[in-house]
Amino acid sequence: DKTTNTYQIINQQPHDQFPKQYIWPKTDQDVVTEVLNAPVIDLHGFFTHDKHATANAINLIKESCMSHGFFQVVNHGIDLGLLALVDEHGRAFFDLPITEKMKCKKTEGSMAGFTNAHVHRFAEKLPWKEMLSFEYHENGPEEVVVDYFNSTLGNQYKETGLIYQKCCQSMRKLALDLMELLEISLGIDGQNYYKKLYEDCISLMRCNYYPKCNQPSLTHGVGPHCDPTTLTILYQDQVGGLEVFVDNKWKSVTPNPDALVINIGDTFKALSNGKYMSCLHRVAVNRFEPRLSVVFFLSPKGDKELNPPQDLIDKDGKQEYPTFKWENFLKFTQTQHRADENTLEEFT
Ligand code: SIN
Ligand code: FE2
Repeated sequence: DKTTNTYQIINQQPHDQFPKQYIWPKTDQDVVTEVLNAPVIDLHGFFTHDKHATANAINLIKESCMSHGFFQVVNHGIDLGLLALVDEHGRAFFDLPITEKMKCKKTEGSMAGFTNAHVHRFAEKLPWKEMLSFEYHENGPEEVVVDYFNSTLGNQYKETGLIYQKCCQSMRKLALDLMELLEISLGIDGQNYYKKLYEDCISLMRCNYYPKCNQPSLTHGVGPHCDPTTLTILYQDQVGGLEVFVDNKWKSVTPNPDALVINIGDTFKALSNGKYMSCLHRVAVNRFEPRLSVVFFLSPKGDKELNPPQDLIDKDGKQEYPTFKWENFLKFTQTQHRADENTLEEFT
């Protein structure tokens, strides 16, 4: 059957039989009553070298990174038509029968592949979602994403592969532009320090699919976490569900059809010498519509020594976190099954 999967079976069961492993402990603090008021930053001025508009964007970036590590961008340079195709092809993948999706099941030790809730690294409770992840090498094989789709799902997924390949290319470009803006916002511009760290990196793209859920208040699409990576670019559909922890409260993010969500991860928190916040976020599910999001994670090459630019250390009088390598930090999050607001502190 095309549509039978774990989630549909659970939805058909009586209410009191909702499986325990999907029930997340919740407190009063978990109830969301507020909408996050985070800036939607227009990048047009930056791309056209408009000094005044760029300064404005930089101020907004600085302010939101210092308070919670979350903002949205419009006129980001990624074709909205391409994003619509990314959405369409992503949905088509998750609509496949589970036996098809299992053709690209994630294997032990690999970052790429399909997973459903039964395999998740960050918590003992299961998230209400399915995922498809794949790597993108900037200086590696040219058609790496296309090849991934071809080799796992077959030739008929060539178009999907091409669309996702293009999306990775343009998100990576945006991620590097944001690195430049972040550098300027920290008052250390002109060095391209951050941009250079990511010249030869391998990035990860992940499609998240959150099926409808008849008991949305019991579970989470993704539990509370901070991204261990450097910077996250997120395309989301108009369903909503993303929530960010700000001022000791969970607040919901209203989707904006023209915007991409940007959040700072733990690695950039360390690279900014602790000045910028790694964004604590989670995803709620709902009973009416499935939700799709597509995430691009920027991370440095695994064996690079990561520390803030010397200027920043000098200005602050000390280095906030010891120098580390991404490969070790990633391994720590995987073996400890954690990615929360204290992971970076405990790792370093
Ligand atoms: C995630 O943070 O893991 C996913 C975010 C989203 O789907 O909005
Ligand atoms: Fe995340």
